[in-house]
Amino acid sequence: MDLNGKICLVTGASSGIGYELALQLAESGATVALSARRSEELDALSARIGPEATAHPFDLSDPAHALQLADDVVAAHGRVDVLASVAGSKVSGPTVALSLDDLDSSFQVNAISPMALAGRLAPAMVERGEGVIATVTTSISGGRRDLGAYAGAKAALASMTQSLRQEIGGKGVAVFAFDPGWVRTGMSPDGKEEPQDAAARLLAHIAAGRGSREVLV
Ligand SMILES: NC(=O)c1ccc[n+]([C@@H]2O[C@H](COP(=O)([O-])OP(=O)(O)OC[C@H]3O[C@@H](n4cnc5c(N)ncnc54)[C@H](OP(=O)(O)O)[C@@H]3O)[C@@H](O)[C@H]2O)c1
Repeated sequence: MDLNGKICLVTGASSGIGYELALQLAESGATVALSARRSEELDALSARIGPEATAHPFDLSDPAHALQLADDVVAAHGRVDVLASVAGSKVSGPTVALSLDDLDSSFQVNAISPMALAGRLAPAMVERGEGVIATVTTSISGGRRDLGAYAGAKAALASMTQSLRQEIGGKGVAVFAFDPGWVRTGMSPDGKEEPQDAAARLLAHIAAGRGSREVLV
């Protein structure tokens, strides 16, 4: 996909991989709609990118907000060509000791809201015969000590992304999950790769409209 002039919604755009992806999409000529909870960060990034960028602060621990976000971006830009669901939240703690609130919020942010966004935006992409839906998963989705809620939610996201790919992939809409590896961000301060490099790999997959060996589905 030629990203020039495309409308790209990036969740998780207030920091880390999502922040860098939004910058790189804008550098590729795309118009970016930025979302996360921290509105000051979104406003600062929007100002850095330029007048076409828009900020849409929403808390994705409530999937109703995901639907509102999709509607807001379509109202602002007319359509969404690329959905990059980068927002994620790492709840940690022994799996059986997690509170129901922690379990609930992990699944809402990491799995249900990305699918709610895809569900709201995919039909118009299929109708236009063009679009990209990218989700961000993790290599530990098979399970990891003290990260059960996070790993489990990302496993659900990977599975639902694969289902969606089988349902609408091939109708001009590319659907894939991206596993960034171990990236130095607020979520993973000891990570080995810089977020701009991980974002560049994700950007390349979005432009290619397909995955690669580092993409789970
Ligand atoms: N770093 C790694 O090594 C690594 C490895 C595997 C997968 N990942 C995945 O990569 C993605 C990006 O993470 P990152 O490493 O760049 O970490 P990060 O800098 O902490 O970014 C996480 C992003 O998600 C947003 N977010 C968190 N909770 C949210 C909520 N309730 N509602 C809306 N937005 C929310 C945050 O924004 P606000 O706080 O402003 O809401 C932030 O923009 C995540 O999906 C993560 O699971 C990262």
